[in-house]
Amino acid sequence: MLNESKVVGLPLARIDGPLKVSGKARYAAEHFATDMLFGCVLPATIATGRITDIDVSEAERFPGVVKVYTYKNRPTVAKRESKWKDEVALPGYTMRPLEDDHVQFDGQPIAFVVAENFEVARDAAELIRVRYAAYDPHTDLLQEQANGYEPPVPRMKEFMPPKPRGDAEGAFALAPHKIASEYYMEGEHHNPMELFGSTVLWENDGRLTIHDKTQGPQNSHDYVCNVFGLKPENVVVQNKFVGGAFGQGLRPKYQLFLAVMASLDLKRSVKAEMSRREMFYLTWRPVCLQKVSLAADAEGNLQSIMHHALGGTSRYEDYQENVANWSGMAYKCDNVKISYEIAKLDRSTPGDMRAPGAASGVTALETAMDELAYEVGIDPLELRIRNFIHVDQNQDKELTSKALHACYREAAESFGWANRSHEPRSMRDGNDLVGWGMATGFWEAQLSEAEAKVSLSSDGKVVVSAAASDIGTGTYTILNQVAAEAFGVAPQAVTVRIGDSSLPKTSVEGGSWTAASSGSAVQVAARAVVATLLKHAQSMPNSPLADASEDQVEIADGRLVLQANHQVGVAIADIMEAAGVSEVEEHGKVAPDPATMKKFSAYTHSAVFLEVKVDEELLIPRVTRVVTAVAAGRILNPKTARSQILGGVVMGVGMALHEEGMVDHRTGRVMNHNLAEYHVPAHADIEDVEVIFVKEDDDKVSPIGVKGLGEIGIVGVAAAVSNAIFHATGKRIRHFPMTIDKLL
Ligand code: MOS
Repeated sequence: MLNESKVVGLPLARIDGPLKVSGKARYAAEHFATDMLFGCVLPATIATGRITDIDVSEAERFPGVVKVYTYKNRPTVAKRESKWKDEVALPGYTMRPLEDDHVQFDGQPIAFVVAENFEVARDAAELIRVRYAAYDPHTDLLQEQANGYEPPVPRMKEFMPPKPRGDAEGAFALAPHKIASEYYMEGEHHNPMELFGSTVLWENDGRLTIHDKTQGPQNSHDYVCNVFGLKPENVVVQNKFVGGAFGQGLRPKYQLFLAVMASLDLKRSVKAEMSRREMFYLTWRPVCLQKVSLAADAEGNLQSIMHHALGGTSRYEDYQENVANWSGMAYKCDNVKISYEIAKLDRSTPGDMRAPGAASGVTALETAMDELAYEVGIDPLELRIRNFIHVDQNQDKELTSKALHACYREAAESFGWANRSHEPRSMRDGNDLVGWGMATGFWEAQLSEAEAKVSLSSDGKVVVSAAASDIGTGTYTILNQVAAEAFGVAPQAVTVRIGDSSLPKTSVEGGSWTAASSGSAVQVAARAVVATLLKHAQSMPNSPLADASEDQVEIADGRLVLQANHQVGVAIADIMEAAGVSEVEEHGKVAPDPATMKKFSAYTHSAVFLEVKVDEELLIPRVTRVVTAVAAGRILNPKTARSQILGGVVMGVGMALHEEGMVDHRTGRVMNHNLAEYHVPAHADIEDVEVIFVKEDDDKVSPIGVKGLGEIGIVGVAAAVSNAIFHATGKRIRHFPMTIDKLL
């Protein structure tokens, strides 16, 4: 056993914070080399068709231009599809930039201009003349559905619906209370502050150091090596600082390919960074159409749940996510039918965006639950509590833990839910209609394979290394805390080295699994260090620890001591001196335990309560108060944890009221590809947000009892807003975002 928690659980400010706010933290596109070249992409201006002519002669002649790449002169790269598959690739044909004359989405890169500086590259790109043969674009999910489109069946096992159970249709027909509603969500675009960028530093011996904006430096590393046939030891990818990502950094993006391609071809360092506009062409949460049917008996006990989801994808890849399966595990119900399909559209492949699938699917389910509560005539919170279940019926497994009752209780109490009057339009504040709504949130609690190295030196300094990423989530800080606690040292004594492909293997930072996985790997490595120290101590003459076992010792005040009696022990410096070493370094590794996974499912849970005020004449909805309670196992750092949930809530408000990717379906082109016309919540849109972490002890979900927090914060928020708007106005809105036109 290691020390009782001293550093873990403290609300430490993030250790990378000062570097970030002082401009010292360098992002991918902020690295430079002398003699560096700059690339700029020319995006296609049609959604589907062929390039019939592309004339780059004027661009090539532009002073300062070094080379213009198109599909006609792209250097040779890997042909086999397997070489293009990154760690989280999808079924289909991975996009290969500048592959041929086909255009498959608006904004697809069709030329890459490399020049002595960025402005020259950008100006020269404007001089490229392109002629297209454009086809009719199909970008409207609703139109495709209306035309009787036959969707392909999703092929990824983890996203396949569970087998139907019971007789959902029969039970629906017989039940006294029922609702059946359709929900539509426009596509959203994730827009972290940091744009996608890659700086490729070319060294004379052919080695590349690449600074890439990614959630997984090893994923980018392996992609580059496979696609360009490079030796793994000749390429290092770093992402020491990441200015937000939200899922869109899980897969390598085309600027990485283009910058490496040009660097290898020209034997120069090359930088490529997307414009904000390019970000909108490439990255989005798919548009989604859902139908949810719920039925209950007179007391509100669920009799039937049916949930169908149709999500958009591209022509070339089958993007999939878990939209509807939540409806089979959220509440107790014996008659369930879930289905999921995807629709091929002439758009870029969507990508995971914070709580992919759940953000859309749980919004539909939780709005439907509110509709059912009004149909039955009971309080929406009471309906959830009546249908509470402590097993995962989808998989017929026990849960590692589910402190959702505590979430309901603590959030409802802090919010004052007991003072709510049930009838819509029954609460007012001057000219404002007041609405109170709630929803449950669900997300998976996953452990991914992760390795870490930890070293302790004789002067008490600790170094942690892993190829993990900190995408703004606090990874630097929490790994520091885990190591500091393990050795009984102050956080100042710990250095965390992450964001480098050459460090111990770690999955991409996604799925909310990094704290649980890398945190556990650090703890395992630290324990191994303690074990090695004990072995060294026991080979010292007259060792006071001669009979001690690994789980009887710990480190305190620079000594390896008996837990039961700190007087008995040996100074670390003496142990190392006797062993003739100046430091002890060990490796730790964690992976999901098959026996646990066979028996248990693991989820994070939340309860969101919020207030909206709607001016009765202007009909502008404002979210004035949010209380969200989260059950996510052990909280390593309440400050960084709270910040994750706050960010999730803000994105949930964006999903509810603001974020709307607009496509002109006549041309298939993205219309609002900038932050002036694609609205996200601003400071004035976010008022009071309270975050509560309920106590949840879970010794099965991960070795350190952590469930993860990156995604749960957004789940349920948009539904709670929709439910609050209904309570305020009596109008049920099932089309997101719920802009003012829908309240009329
Ligand atoms: Mo997350 S959307 O898996 O980064």
